[in-house]
Amino acid sequence: MFPDLKFNPFRDGQYGILIPQLSSLVAITLVAYYLWRLWKFTLRPWLWPQCPIELPYRIPCHTIAFFGNSDQLLERGLNYTARSHEIFAIQLPGKKLNIITSPSDVAAAFRDTVALRFDGHLNELLENFGFGREAIRRGWHKPMPGDWCYIPNNPVNPKQLNFIHLTEDIYKKQLLPGGKMDAMCKTFLDALHESIQWDNLDSYGHAGDKNRKTISLYSLCRFAMVDATTRSMFGQHLHDIDSDIVKHMLGFNDNAWMVFFRYPDFFGLPVTKPRQKIINALKRFIQLPESQRPQQAWSIKNIIAAQEVVGIDLEARASVILMIFWAANSNEYNISFWVLAYLLYDNDLFMSIKCETEAAWHSGKLDIKHLCANCPNLEAVFYEALRLNGGAMVSRVVLEQTTIGGKILKAGDSILIPSRQLHTNERVWGEDVREFNAKRFLKNKALARHSSFRPFGGGLTYCPGRVLAKEEVYGFIAILMHRFDMRLALAEDGSKPPFPVLNDSVPALGITGPLIGANVLVDVWESNGQR
Ligand code: HEM
Ligand SMILES: *[C@@H]1O[C@H](CO)[C@@H](O)[C@H](O)[C@H]1NC(C)=O
Ligand SMILES: *[C@@H]1O[C@H](CO)[C@@H](O)[C@H](O)[C@H]1NC(C)=O
Ligand SMILES: *[C@@H]1O[C@H](CO)[C@@H](O)[C@H](O)[C@H]1NC(C)=O
Repeated sequence: MFPDLKFNPFRDGQYGILIPQLSSLVAITLVAYYLWRLWKFTLRPWLWPQCPIELPYRIPCHTIAFFGNSDQLLERGLNYTARSHEIFAIQLPGKKLNIITSPSDVAAAFRDTVALRFDGHLNELLENFGFGREAIRRGWHKPMPGDWCYIPNNPVNPKQLNFIHLTEDIYKKQLLPGGKMDAMCKTFLDALHESIQWDNLDSYGHAGDKNRKTISLYSLCRFAMVDATTRSMFGQHLHDIDSDIVKHMLGFNDNAWMVFFRYPDFFGLPVTKPRQKIINALKRFIQLPESQRPQQAWSIKNIIAAQEVVGIDLEARASVILMIFWAANSNEYNISFWVLAYLLYDNDLFMSIKCETEAAWHSGKLDIKHLCANCPNLEAVFYEALRLNGGAMVSRVVLEQTTIGGKILKAGDSILIPSRQLHTNERVWGEDVREFNAKRFLKNKALARHSSFRPFGGGLTYCPGRVLAKEEVYGFIAILMHRFDMRLALAEDGSKPPFPVLNDSVPALGITGPLIGANVLVDVWESNGQR
């Protein structure tokens, strides 16, 4: 899909026989080009050391490298700055990205809630997701007495926040620990109890003999988690409107980075169709009278009510819900996949964690609070899986000039905090930084709170779903282990297939998935207790 920019007609000598005028033009251009590079990447950094060093580029910026493999580009930047983890900059079309990777700079960036407020970034995101200009204007408008959207003592909006801040407020109330989070978690787990049944497994892979089935671990994680999340937000209703809603969400998610990074819409992007299907379903859902949406979550009901008051168009209403729907879905199945893969590849680890999770079952019922409070080994694997596979790139627009780590960040530029580079900082994690170590977070409990461990971001947008996420992932694993005996399916010659490889070919938005080819197959038997 990407043009090969390595071809260089000057260097590659395709134009060997040139008329003299042309060749002197070429000579002048080349000299100008090298002077420009000398200035930009050598003299300027030397004259102004307080500006972030720019990673050199040829023509015209780092776009291709960034969309192709952002991880490698960022690693190149770390190498270029002698892995000092000082802030460096890369150039995207029309925008400079300052890359922040040292623990103290990361902490400072998340603390800076003035110059690096989320609001600057949010407008970009909203536009990318489908907000028009008028919807953005209305979205940021703070209700004042006499306004079209001002309702005295508004029960949905007691603090009279603008619609965008109200929406953030609503989902924080829904997701942070408390009764509303518990209610959401319960619907989620009920859906898993329903879907993770022996008879349903065939849809995740090919059947084996009568008592054994061989299934794809990734398919199982994808369909079960997205299905349960959808039900935890919309009850049965969205499934009723479009029975393929889970498939559409997966299709959207597989290419959602194109929406986030506003990938130019050249080729009828693969993300366009599933997005449209979800938006259509959401529009129909929103337009149902409230009495016909009895199973929806508290937050969905309130956000739809708030949208009515502020009067944004239907497309914008559906896009807000899509953003939250996406945030709730995007990471859960990838992290479940990695945790289960580590367990399946290490039988002792698998058994020790099965012991822990089984202790949370009492007379056939799973006690989710007990599960989350009493599984130190599972917790250590969960954190290590988040560390190694967490590729979230938190980005912010610099709203006013600010200084971090001695470097001046200019208004209008952006910052990027790439969790992969924080999670593989050898100064923090030591020699075995690239290896999976099931005991790392068990031996040193403080690592889970280290500034260089940021799977859930930080600052004002610190993932509000982080506690719920843990309950959902642990619950999924506990149900699987309880219902089934599971073992890694061996290759035909009886050997263990190689461990799945991270797919880092597109910019990551959160927990990265595996390469599709390296599927993990699992042999499954119905567990004795269940027969
Ligand atoms: C392992 C699972 C998860 C991971 C790794 C994760 C990661 C993140 C990260 C890195 C951010 C910050 C984005 C930024 O600052 O730009 C974020 C924000 C968010 N997450 Fe999660 N998340 C997870 C699960 C969930 C779940 C289960 C939900 C909801 C049910 C959720 C809802 C949200 C929301 C609504 C935001 C936006 C917060 C805001 O704008 O203030 N997340 N998440
Ligand atoms: C960075 O440097 C290391 C060590 O010299 C090297 O192994 C690695 O390939 C380099 N990475 C990139 C992207 O240039
Ligand atoms: C999960 O993995 C899939 C497949 O690699 C990827 O398309 C998707 O974007 C990943 N989710 C996140 C949040 O990065
Ligand atoms: C990696 O993920 C992207 C985005 O989901 C996907 O389009 C691509 O096919 C994946 N590559 C492989 C080899 O799995």
